[in-house]
Amino acid sequence: MQGWWYDWIKALHVIAVISWMAGMLYLPRLFVYHCEAEAGSKQSETFKVMERRLFKAIINPAMIVTWLAGLYLVWAGHWYLSGWFHVKFLLVLLMSGVHGFFGRCVRAFAADRNLHSQKFYRLINEVPTALMIVIVILVIVKPF
Ligand code: HEM
Repeated sequence: MQGWWYDWIKALHVIAVISWMAGMLYLPRLFVYHCEAEAGSKQSETFKVMERRLFKAIINPAMIVTWLAGLYLVWAGHWYLSGWFHVKFLLVLLMSGVHGFFGRCVRAFAADRNLHSQKFYRLINEVPTALMIVIVILVIVKPF
């Protein structure tokens, strides 16, 4: 059964989620601005540092803590039996896929080999937002 620490792990989960999402919502904005900076310019080099630090210091560790705490909650709360969780899990896998893709973009920009347009980054910017909204509704409302 659930111990008193369940709610503490849930608090940790939400703290990590906020940090992960802050980064996932801001990083593609940096890509949008980075597209406008000429390769080799001082501005472009500054964006590289901002992107690398945001990804390595915030986004990556926050995702790991979100996953570890989340998996504990699923196991301790037996949520793997619930419909809302199955959909949440699918969306969280998609979020993690977008995370992996953003990591590839950071590396591409770092090597001055960005392959995508500014319009593309404006569009993909909305994906983590949309996923986050549905995930939060699923986990709070638990509609099924
Ligand atoms: C990475 C894999 C994840 C797993 C395995 C997971 C799993 C869970 C589980 C089992 C709970 C407990 C539900 C309850 O006690 O009622 C929970 C709570 C929560 N999760 Fe996740 N989660 C993950 C990622 C995320 C993400 C990406 C978000 C938001 C974008 C999120 C938002 C929340 C919120 C807001 C709560 C608190 C709900 C409440 O107050 O009861 N989770 N998560």
